[in-house]
Amino acid sequence: KKENKRARLLQVNKEAATYFFHQLRSENGRAGWQYLKKRELSDETIRKFGLGFANMTSNDLVKFLKSKGYEDEVIRDAGLATFDEKFGFHDKFWNRVMFPIQDINHRVIGFGGRVMGDGKPKYLNSPETPVFDKSRNLYGLNIARTARKNQIILCEGYMDVITMHQAGFSQAVASLGTAFTEGQASLLKRYTDEVILSYDSDGAGVTAALRAISILKEAGMTGRVLNLEPYKDPDEFIKNCGQEAFQKRLDGAENTFFFEIRMLQKDYNMQDPESKTKFYREIARKLCGFSEEVERENYIQAVAQRYQISVENLRRLVLSYAMQTG
Ligand code: CTP
Ligand code: MN
Ligand code: MN
Ligand code: MN
Ligand code: MN
Repeated sequence: KKENKRARLLQVNKEAATYFFHQLRSENGRAGWQYLKKRELSDETIRKFGLGFANMTSNDLVKFLKSKGYEDEVIRDAGLATFDEKFGFHDKFWNRVMFPIQDINHRVIGFGGRVMGDGKPKYLNSPETPVFDKSRNLYGLNIARTARKNQIILCEGYMDVITMHQAGFSQAVASLGTAFTEGQASLLKRYTDEVILSYDSDGAGVTAALRAISILKEAGMTGRVLNLEPYKDPDEFIKNCGQEAFQKRLDGAENTFFFEIRMLQKDYNMQDPESKTKFYREIARKLCGFSEEVERENYIQAVAQRYQISVENLRRLVLSYAMQTG
């Protein structure tokens, strides 16, 4: 019974994705097509990601699905329609460019819909459903898993993934706005050992990257961090600088520990001896996290050199913390 329900939800999602896909190619979808072209996506890319369009009228998807024999209940449970007093039973998505979200077996499990202007919310996403567990799926992984690269690039958004793939970086996936989770980490671990973090270069992106680093570590994976400055996200970087420049940034991606220390330093004033000392204490505390002696020593040397402290002093500080914590 439960399996039947899941199958039915996947079926109605697939039907909806096909409907949106055709809408994008019809007169109704002109604005959507123009929007995607303005964002420099090729016909091939648009097809590859199955992008679509939900048009202006607010209940034609519901009508279409009902004509295909789907009951209100399954349409609602798939998150494709909602009920309210004012409009009755109506489409959840309208006047948006649609991004179907697929699981690793290419089944459509949900959707993200983007406004074409500055409306809010910028992206409207399907709710969690019996087939859509956000914490256990990654956008683009169905394609990235077959990319045969020895790394996965983890970014924030739909357009980041799509633009990277279009530029040849088919190892890109997105955690879709939600914080990167343990479930997503173990999913990634099936396909790669190295994750290149490519979150937005704003405050929220840095915070998300720091959290992702500790989750990756916990899962036993190594990572590096991509620096996109002065651009905001991979999509903007590639649109402005091109594929080769992006490859260079990828090759030069930063060690996650160095990234953590560099971000940590922003909280301290290196001109003030008191603040500077606190900064070194915090570094020392973090260095204790390396239980293997050789690795710890390598990091002590690298960090000492970068942050104007002698190796001896930093080593001493680390030892005093290591003693405290056992
Ligand atoms: N997101 C969301 N809902 C929002 C804003 C963002 O679900 N209201 C998710 C989307 O998956 C989005 C990601 O978080 O792709 C990153 O958000 P943001 O950086 O704001 O958007 P971009 O992906 O850069 O979107 P675009 O380039 O289309 O402006
Ligand atoms: Mn509609
Ligand atoms: Mn962002
Ligand atoms: Mn963007
Ligand atoms: Mn962004």
